[in-house]
Amino acid sequence: GENEAPAAGGGGGGDDKIVMGFAQVGAESGWRTANTKSIQETAKTAGVELKFSDAQQKQENQIKAIRSYIQQKVDVIAFSPVVQTGWDTVLLEAKRANIPVILTDRAVDSKDTSLYKTFLGSDFVEEGKKAGDWLVKQAATADVNGDGAIKVVELQGTTGAAPAIDRKKGFEDAIAANPKISVAASQTGDFTRDGGKKVMESFLNAQKDIDVVYAHNDDMGLGAIEAIEAAGRKPGKDIKIITIDAVKDGMTALAAGKIDYIVECNPLLGPQLMDLAKKVVAGEEVPARVVTEETAFDQAAAKEALPTRQY
Ligand code: AHR
Repeated sequence: GENEAPAAGGGGGGDDKIVMGFAQVGAESGWRTANTKSIQETAKTAGVELKFSDAQQKQENQIKAIRSYIQQKVDVIAFSPVVQTGWDTVLLEAKRANIPVILTDRAVDSKDTSLYKTFLGSDFVEEGKKAGDWLVKQAATADVNGDGAIKVVELQGTTGAAPAIDRKKGFEDAIAANPKISVAASQTGDFTRDGGKKVMESFLNAQKDIDVVYAHNDDMGLGAIEAIEAAGRKPGKDIKIITIDAVKDGMTALAAGKIDYIVECNPLLGPQLMDLAKKVVAGEEVPARVVTEETAFDQAAAKEALPTRQY
């Protein structure tokens, strides 16, 4: 097999460069754009030849891209699985072709963990928990309507995606600490601004006394802001907003008082990914799980961080 020749870059090219096939989810959010840029730029500086595809949030497109990388005999395949389930067959094909696979950003639910070498990305349950913990701490001021109950509406990420499943769970676990807080409605906005706006419009029509929006990413939160403003209400004041990601547009809205709290999810995975890829191709041991370090921002912290924010 190609990959038994350490670091020689057996497959794709004629030279010594490692050839990586990367199957990206899509271009659904500001986070994703920053993630793609990080991977493309660091591939260049790390001397990795990158074959890049955009699946437009469709699993079938990602599977096709991975199969084509197998056919092209790349040295390593990396991808961010759009949903958690349904990967065993194609991962087995890669394994049989002796091409190592690295999961980045999102996880798969395959029982057989020998189907991939490592998983680099955030702890999404922890992110949801941070969002919920903040709300529990803010309970005194989060009952905007003053009716004794804190009514949350949730904008979920892409159905079946690890960050949507995990961020929902982490948040629910955290808010269980205060019986006054409950999620009155929860629907997917597909991690897009437009999706967030549309779902928020329907929430505003169907629900009375919404106190809080919990959006699984900044983009959906930004869409919700548009819907809230169009309804003549003040985001961040009449309705509190909590999001996840901390990309530029989100941080700008936070600093402007339109969002109340953002939990960070770091998209700059390129450097660690290239490092892991080189090791994996060289046949070196790598940790099975690499978790990215993250923080969270309130409005004051956003004002401070914005001027030097990279993405
Ligand atoms: O998988 C990470 C998530 O995907 C980001 O939080 C979201 O913005 C993106 O679409």
